[in-house]
Amino acid sequence: MGDSSDECGTFIAEGLHSSHQSAVQPNSRPSSTGNQSFEIARNGTAVGLPAAHLSSRLQVTGGAEYTDDTPTPPNTLHAALVLSTKAHAHILSIDDSLAKSSPGFVGLFLSKDVPGSNKIGAIIHDEEVFATELVTCVGQVIGIVVADTHENAKVASKKVKIGYKELPPILSIKDAIKARSFHPSTERCLEEGDVDRCFMSGECDRIIEGEVQVGGQEHFYLEPNSSLIWTIDGGNEVHMISSTQSPQKHQDLVAHVLNLPMSKVVCKTKRIGGGFGGKETRSAFIAAAASVPSYLLKRPVKITLDRDVDMMITGQRHSFLGKYKVGFTNAGNFLALDLEIYNNGGNSLDLSLSVLERAMFSSDNVYKIPHIRVRGQVCYTNLPSNTAFRGFGGPQGMLIAENWVQRVAVELRRSPEEIREINFQHEGHVLHYGQKLQNCTLRQVWDELNASCLFAKARETADDFNRNNRWRKRGVAMIPTKFGISFTAKHMNQAGALVQVYIDGTVLVTHGGVEMGQGLHTKVAQIAAASFNIPLSSVFISETSTDKVPNSSPTAASASSDMYGAAVLDACEQINARMKTMAVKHNYASFTELVRACYMERIDLSAHGFYITPDIGFDWKDRKGTPFNYFTYGAAFAEVEIDTLTGDFHTRTADIVMDLGRSLNPAIDVGQIEGAFIQGLGWVALEELKWGDSEHPWIRPGSLYTCGPGTYKIPSMNDIPLNFKVSLLKDVPNPKAIHSSKAVGEPPFFLASSVLFAIKDAIIAARSEEGHDDWFPLDNPATPERIRMACIDDFTRHFASPDYQPKLSI
Ligand code: MTE
Ligand code: HPA
Ligand code: MOS
Repeated sequence: MGDSSDECGTFIAEGLHSSHQSAVQPNSRPSSTGNQSFEIARNGTAVGLPAAHLSSRLQVTGGAEYTDDTPTPPNTLHAALVLSTKAHAHILSIDDSLAKSSPGFVGLFLSKDVPGSNKIGAIIHDEEVFATELVTCVGQVIGIVVADTHENAKVASKKVKIGYKELPPILSIKDAIKARSFHPSTERCLEEGDVDRCFMSGECDRIIEGEVQVGGQEHFYLEPNSSLIWTIDGGNEVHMISSTQSPQKHQDLVAHVLNLPMSKVVCKTKRIGGGFGGKETRSAFIAAAASVPSYLLKRPVKITLDRDVDMMITGQRHSFLGKYKVGFTNAGNFLALDLEIYNNGGNSLDLSLSVLERAMFSSDNVYKIPHIRVRGQVCYTNLPSNTAFRGFGGPQGMLIAENWVQRVAVELRRSPEEIREINFQHEGHVLHYGQKLQNCTLRQVWDELNASCLFAKARETADDFNRNNRWRKRGVAMIPTKFGISFTAKHMNQAGALVQVYIDGTVLVTHGGVEMGQGLHTKVAQIAAASFNIPLSSVFISETSTDKVPNSSPTAASASSDMYGAAVLDACEQINARMKTMAVKHNYASFTELVRACYMERIDLSAHGFYITPDIGFDWKDRKGTPFNYFTYGAAFAEVEIDTLTGDFHTRTADIVMDLGRSLNPAIDVGQIEGAFIQGLGWVALEELKWGDSEHPWIRPGSLYTCGPGTYKIPSMNDIPLNFKVSLLKDVPNPKAIHSSKAVGEPPFFLASSVLFAIKDAIIAARSEEGHDDWFPLDNPATPERIRMACIDDFTRHFASPDYQPKLSI
């Protein structure tokens, strides 16, 4: 294009202002720069060290073993699921005649074969292991085929012919609301102040109403769901290795389905290749199905889902619909919010109610709203059951909030950052569900970010750029977040551990938490090493196993290092107390010598540790309480550049500040922040789920079209911000968690919405060139198509109104 001899080049050189050259500049990507800032503030012990993840070497060299890598015992069969191809239908017939003659076929198992109960579920048992009469989504399990190989099992499973009588499906939140299709008893309300009175009183200078659609997200963990199940001792004990965040749920449901006591069922998990909430509950129905042939045939059975099947049947992040009415003053103070939110639960309840509840707790993000009412309900749809995903409804609730906050700013012609700041919650503020903010570091985080990103200057530079470039626009945004730490179901906030000291002075730690790449085992090992004052290399965590530590909650809610760290510390302290009787008698040269002396004195060198999160509890009958132990705060700045003609964008800068108390391991924590941010960036700007529906009739209704990386765009190297900066707040010990640290796993996820709001800001600049200064909707994901259509110009005017946005499947 630089060659001015061609027609177009001449046109540019002669006819157009230089700012129009922004239409044709290539989007070359310079290499990124990163910056990580944290303090290492401990006194020589393992706690606080930026130690590398203990299995990182194995993971990057391919040596780390995952479930599917486990050598299969002799006689192992491979399983494949027989899945519904209809979203809603009666099952009329099941014909296995073709399957039976398929190569390597060993058996087909259906609901009638289940030895125990066919009814399962995460909290309530509203699912079937194998569908009996009715299917309620595409991908529902009807049966399981076992064969000699994985390939043969798949081929045979496709030869099982199901006859259906189709029923009309409900495939979206809006259809569900229209049909009043909700999961039973999921209506929820939180309220503070008097919303109706405030709207009527005339106190609000302005009142606006609107809708926000929040898109879902596929977990895309690198390791798909997998289980290996076998029986021992004549067939009445069942053991399994599963890729799950909840070995205890596998133990529980497999025992239930096989009619065995839980004491005869063991589930072990060494590590999983990511879970992100997707294996908190949705892994269990797969293990439950595979346990049936294993038990009945007394043979090991392995099941590993292919990527497309995993994506089609195991559910996603919930899409949400938010309807808001917000009243505020001309000065920009929020006065009243009336909010209705709905999430798309899919065909079973799973965790959808807890997800909705967390979204409702998070609907204020970090803002004071004197009069607030939040109502919610879980929609029943004929889609695979949606489930936990990093943030657990929190990001959806906060995204709805930031949408109307940004709109208030546009209506008042003020900067959104200013509006955010003047409405910040402060120390002592009582939230709409009754919890009081203590040790609130929001302002500190925000001010530090402001100083780091030089917001005012960034704003000016972007405006300057925008004046000189017609077809490329830059946008900036700063977004704060607070994330409540604890399971919102009180009973889940308990943790157990088993610490065993061996006579060579090495320590084997087992606890109820699962290592999913988040570094939990590394942090917990650091805590044990510090407690015994031994090197980190002397502590080993081999696996999670239901026969070592019973009744564990799923590894979730970001609280695992808080909880399992504390349980392990409890066990270490018991052993230390016992060893002290020897240590005071003699000055042993090493830990190993002390251990040997204790052994000779017949001192117990093994202990069970336990922890419960204190002082929490929330009752939905009172609607007030303290669901969270504390909050993790953070804020992020993003600068993006969009190409208004193609809708392409890239993130020029992301700058993140978080309060993680005194980090247990700042290297791991910074990695969690970076990972969560990029995963969040996928959610807000890249990843779009599409199902067959009335708008896409060429895809079977209710069938997921985007079931692989070819049609579903997850973040890649090229999506990493060109300049990526992460800092941890210094000198902010957290009195509420182990060694003054804070939970990190989920809280940074929402900060990626700064990219979405920076994109919106860039689009505002594009639209203002065409004289459009009004607010416009742009829901996530801000895909190129949606960015392009929001940038009004001659091209879009032919097709759509100024507030048109391409339809989302939610
Ligand atoms: N990090 C990696 N690498 N892989 C994961 O699957 N899951 C996230 C987060 N970070 C995840 C991750 C989610 S959803 C949660 S709740 C926390 O880790 C759980 O672990 P934690 O409680 O130890 O933080
Ligand atoms: N967070 C994450 N997972 C959960 C929760 C929660 O609050 N409750 C049940 N599972
Ligand atoms: Mo995380 S969504 O709580 O597994």
